[in-house]
Amino acid sequence: MERKTKHLWWQEGVIYQVYPRSFQDSNNDGIGDLKGIAHRLDYLEWLGITALWLSPVYSSPMADFGYDISDYQDIHPLFGTLEDFDVLLKEVHNRGMKLILDLVPNHTSDQHPWFLESKSSKNNPKRDWYIWHDARPGGSVPNNWLSVFGGSAWEWDETTGQYYYHAFLKEQPDLNWRNPEVQKAMLDVMRFWLAKGVDGFRVDVMWHMIKDEQLRDNPQNPSYEQHMATYEQLLPFYSTDQPEVHEIVRKMRDVLDSYDERMMIGEIYLPLHKLVAYYGIDNKGAHLPFNFQLLALPWDARQIAAAVDQYEGALPAGGWPNWVLGNHDQPRITSRVGLEQARVAAMLLLTLRGTPTVYYGDEIGMRDVPIPFEEVQDPQGLNMPDKNLSRDPSRTPMQWDNGNYAGFSVSKPWLRLAKNYARENVAVQKNDAYSMLSLYKRLIELRQKEPALMTGDYKPVYSDHHVMSYLRESATSDNFLIVLNLSHRPCYFTIKNYEIKGRIEIATALELEGNEITETISLGGDEGIVVRLSKK
Ligand code: NOJ
Repeated sequence: MERKTKHLWWQEGVIYQVYPRSFQDSNNDGIGDLKGIAHRLDYLEWLGITALWLSPVYSSPMADFGYDISDYQDIHPLFGTLEDFDVLLKEVHNRGMKLILDLVPNHTSDQHPWFLESKSSKNNPKRDWYIWHDARPGGSVPNNWLSVFGGSAWEWDETTGQYYYHAFLKEQPDLNWRNPEVQKAMLDVMRFWLAKGVDGFRVDVMWHMIKDEQLRDNPQNPSYEQHMATYEQLLPFYSTDQPEVHEIVRKMRDVLDSYDERMMIGEIYLPLHKLVAYYGIDNKGAHLPFNFQLLALPWDARQIAAAVDQYEGALPAGGWPNWVLGNHDQPRITSRVGLEQARVAAMLLLTLRGTPTVYYGDEIGMRDVPIPFEEVQDPQGLNMPDKNLSRDPSRTPMQWDNGNYAGFSVSKPWLRLAKNYARENVAVQKNDAYSMLSLYKRLIELRQKEPALMTGDYKPVYSDHHVMSYLRESATSDNFLIVLNLSHRPCYFTIKNYEIKGRIEIATALELEGNEITETISLGGDEGIVVRLSKK
């Protein structure tokens, strides 16, 4: 039921993920930075965004583009300074917007002073801050755990004669969260940024944070096939999603709760029944365990409708839903479902119940950009036998206008731009009522204006292989019917059990807007509509 209580900013708002390297360069080095982001806040405000999440901007050797942190309390000079950060935060807040930082507590850089100390000798007080283990007799690795980025997850350290564990690159050693000093240090990092006024964190690989104490071997994955990443050969049964992780999340939450209205998003790739456990007992876990279902499901209306219903049903009482169409680790939505369906996907994202997260550039329909072999930069692309696993294509510079380098920079960008940037960019799309950008802007505007869309109830109405339809309802305002054709073919169907009368408010094909609808609805291929229902 629609709750009568006041909703919080992270429930009512729209989150926008900025990948800082690729958003806006201000100092002409071809890499985006904090001043660049500040310079583009007018745009985000115009679009109706209410919160920004920044991928990591901390000091880092950049082995994994900032997800390898060497100082959690400083900014990488590529992105600017702590002063630049303070200015950005102030400007975000002056606009009534919020700022969410990426927090990477599972691992540090191998250049972090903690790790340098830890590896300096077996007796170092920080030795136990990381996961060290003797070789098995014969010198082999302590267990069969694999790195997400390929190969064994254990790296031999010649100086001290032990292996250390790294779930990702060997340059990203995992912290030992069983050690109370590690816990304290990372909670203090949170306090440092919260005291500055940061509104929340997106917590990197939350489900990886603590591992089986006995380091037992992971079982083989019976569904493994040749084309899959090597990491998937095993089921990460003992290396991830351990029961103790919830105690840690709870501790993080306690820190957040000691400030005003701060929040935490958890990056968690797990099946639904495990994902929802991250809301925590009494909802004292993550505020938003990221719901990545739309990233993985086949683009089939019946399957998506079923997944939405299952998710709604699986949420704990008081647990707030959220939806994601893309991020810096995944192919872009336009490249997965095509440009026309990406419009329908936008309508889905922005009309479902729960906080939407928009990945930068998706609002202008940016596509994955082909990156020639010799220009691949992502370690996932470089390390894996399958170069198609590179994440570079979805991290290319934002396309602002048709100027040199798309208005992103005046220097050659760190990663090549899309060829079509002169045609597909913010400036062009702003002036085109049919553009993806105009569609996003109008959907966000309606969502933010209409209680039924922002926080109202969700009620499934109909689904078949082409189309899915649902209601968003509020006791205090107009109700809305959403009908989405997820196929390229025209379709029609009759809504039974509901008396439907209303006017199309937003349509992917603008020509439909203003039309009245009745219980038999027909839609062209790739069409979606948001209908304002007449009051009874
Ligand atoms: C998840 C991040 O989103 C990804 O970009 C990164 O490579 C891994 N965590 C390791 O930090």
